[in-house]
Amino acid sequence: MTELPLGLTYDDVVLIPQRSTLRSRSEADTTGSFSRRLRLRVPIASANMDTVTEWRMSVALAERGGLGVLHRFMPISEQAEQVLRVKRHEPGYVAEPETIGADATVSAAAERMRSRRVSSLLVVDGEGRLLGILSRRDLRPDGDGTLTVAQRMTPRAQLVTARPGVALDDARALLDRHRLEKLPVVDERDVLRGLITDHDLARLAERPAASRDARGRLLVAAAVGAVGDYRERAAALVEAGADALVIDIAHGHSDLAIAAAERVRADHPQVELVVGNVATAEGARDLAAAGADGVKVGVGPGAACTTRLVAGAGVPQITAVSACARALADTDVPVIADGGIRNSGDLVKALAAGAGCAMIGHLLAGTEESPGETVVRGGQRYKVYRGMASRAAARARWQREHDGEDLDELALAVTPEGVETVVPFRGPVADILRDLAGGLRSGMSYCNARTLDELRANARFMRITEAGRREGLPHGLEALLTASAEPAAAPLDELLR
Ligand code: XMP
Repeated sequence: MTELPLGLTYDDVVLIPQRSTLRSRSEADTTGSFSRRLRLRVPIASANMDTVTEWRMSVALAERGGLGVLHRFMPISEQAEQVLRVKRHEPGYVAEPETIGADATVSAAAERMRSRRVSSLLVVDGEGRLLGILSRRDLRPDGDGTLTVAQRMTPRAQLVTARPGVALDDARALLDRHRLEKLPVVDERDVLRGLITDHDLARLAERPAASRDARGRLLVAAAVGAVGDYRERAAALVEAGADALVIDIAHGHSDLAIAAAERVRADHPQVELVVGNVATAEGARDLAAAGADGVKVGVGPGAACTTRLVAGAGVPQITAVSACARALADTDVPVIADGGIRNSGDLVKALAAGAGCAMIGHLLAGTEESPGETVVRGGQRYKVYRGMASRAAARARWQREHDGEDLDELALAVTPEGVETVVPFRGPVADILRDLAGGLRSGMSYCNARTLDELRANARFMRITEAGRREGLPHGLEALLTASAEPAAAPLDELLR
């Protein structure tokens, strides 16, 4: 116990500003790596947690240059279906537009538009066939409120439509030629299959950085475990088109994880394979030797983690990332800094310490696209966020797997290493990504770095004191200290009381 090593985390260090040759933040290229062959223009992956990543989060991230890692706490067929949904997603194309029946009242339609936050509804019959479209301007008051959608909609005969698979350029031309805002997509039986909107196409043009495979489809990764049905799951996910598999185990530096990595590597030599989590140089090297194309690093830094409290084990995250990145420096296997990122400053520090990208849970859990349940308290919207080793997550899993058994008894058999909490609703994930990427560019400019390689090479860290850390927080303005500066980590019950 005499020569104990020092472990540092994000709050213990700052990056020393350097003379910069960058004239604008836009000169900084944020492209990073998730694995050997998967490059991300925005070096952010979402955590494979059941309150963070399902297909909506994956689509939203990949469209903006990041990557979603689908969680594995669902049946194999459902996870494979989610991979397919991302791979089939056509940008600028709404696969499941909001619909309404022709007999509904106009006031019910108005309520639906408000609650779903859409500006039109497609009117369909019981078989899903297109009957018309109802726009916001058709919602004029109708006196006694008994008018039906059929009486106000623009009927099918007057609509211009397209067929599934229409090229986006052709859709654009149709919208322009007919001065339309919406182009319903119908099949040969006139069944509604999607919607292309002027608004979405315009947004698409602003998003050239999307993460795509060689065929232009969005990238998606998916998690598997290291025991039980993991090989069957891996096979189904690869078959569905997953670009990367993530072997997800709390203590990744274990014989179990290494054996699982070797088996999955042998079963699927072509797929990108990420394995984790580890926190030491030896762990990173062993996983790379077992065939990992990317190594996930982080034992205990996550916002909903209690591993360090429960097991007393872990490594502060800056030290862990830096040690693992150095251990893999002579390979092309990147490190994914997983957990503990609370703001763009932490992201810059993780990448400067050697990570190829960061994995984020808490910061993304409050977004529209996360699958977490929404709760409203005191007029504020929150979303549930829970550690995957929390009792609540375990209960949800058992509910699915052990139908009819005494869940309380099962619950007593495990010691949780995570908590359940709520995070404030934060709007679309696009806003969070924009702020994180903007902060990253700023950090790169302070380090005179045009690329993440330059950031790593140029970065000079300084260790700071607790007084130094406090100085860096907004002060004298207590009201401005928000949840984003200090993540909420109270148990759900306490927060909702
Ligand atoms: P953030 O801080 O971004 O971290 O929310 C997300 C990461 O936290 C890890 N994770 C857990 N760690 N117990 C743990 O010790 C848990 O219950 C748990 N759930 C998630 C995971 O690595 C995730 O990506």
